[in-house]
Amino acid sequence: YPFRRAAVLSDSYSTEASELADIEWDNLGFGFLPTDYMYMMKCTRGGNFSKGELQQFGKIELSPSAGVLNYGQGLFEGLKAYRKEDGNILLFRPEENALRMRLGAERMCMPSPTVEQFVEAVKATVLANKRWVPPSGKGSLYIRPLLMGSGAVLGLAPAPEYTFLIYVSPVGNYFKEGVAPIHLIVENELHRATPGGTGGVKTIGNYAAVLKAQSVAKAKGYSDVLYLDCVHKKYLEEVSSCNIFVVKGNVISTPAIKGTILPGITRKSIIDVARSRGFQVEERLVPVEELLDADEVFCTGTAVVVSPVGSITYKGERVSYGADGFGAVSQQLYSVLTRLQMGLIEDKMDWTVE
Ligand code: COI
Repeated sequence: YPFRRAAVLSDSYSTEASELADIEWDNLGFGFLPTDYMYMMKCTRGGNFSKGELQQFGKIELSPSAGVLNYGQGLFEGLKAYRKEDGNILLFRPEENALRMRLGAERMCMPSPTVEQFVEAVKATVLANKRWVPPSGKGSLYIRPLLMGSGAVLGLAPAPEYTFLIYVSPVGNYFKEGVAPIHLIVENELHRATPGGTGGVKTIGNYAAVLKAQSVAKAKGYSDVLYLDCVHKKYLEEVSSCNIFVVKGNVISTPAIKGTILPGITRKSIIDVARSRGFQVEERLVPVEELLDADEVFCTGTAVVVSPVGSITYKGERVSYGADGFGAVSQQLYSVLTRLQMGLIEDKMDWTVE
């Protein structure tokens, strides 16, 4: 509960920027806090995005017949801006989000901004809201680009007009556990994605589809849900909002990207960091049984960063990992990644953008 004034909480549906003085930077969670500006750019079907602009953050107008509202023609992205100790601001691999949005847009029959347009729009939005980037080490500014069919349709078809929009919100830890381990339950009935479906792109419907299992799991005290593949019902896929990694000795395994799993940018970065530190990383089919004798399990994502998993429950059996916090491997990877993102260690990979 990071704010002193109830009026700025997301539940209150306020769209007015709160006062900076009201924010308890030490206690940020992952709730929506309105900031000053958002970025908007529009184009027609078959056209190209040309010039966008910053506007005061606020509600947007959509036809009730908008493609995104009726047929879910929409994508989103997530990336973060970090404040360095010297006060400057770093983005982490924004061009990767731009590329992922372009791939997703192709799948969803939407035009998309170029990589350059996307990155420039992100930079402009962060700079316009720079007072909302938390102090160094206290969190980050979460950046949420949206791409949606905003034109009116009735028959099922791609919308005639598209809107690219970016808003931002300061955030801290994603899970209420903070940096403490999360507890997952393996879902046996409901599935997140199917071969040939849209699980591999960041379409909004993928996230609506996991709300049911997630709310049942949360009501039972679990932090989130781990999904299995829908064909064999035995291979790990991903958690509702993040990718999963299993550690055994020096080997770190994660489900291969094959259309049903979101190609996470943190996932990809952690694989590179782990390999550079001498770990063997395997991207492959990971049978659920491998959870039983894993040394450590952890999740990765922009929002969750690197989150240690404390236990996983599968068909009523609970397997626990380690003690209270990170295991040695996830601790090491978390530490390298976050120090890179905050500009505390040299960025040999050129991943950060000031
Ligand atoms: C992210 O990690 O940025 C995501 O988009 C996941 C979302 C459910 C918070």
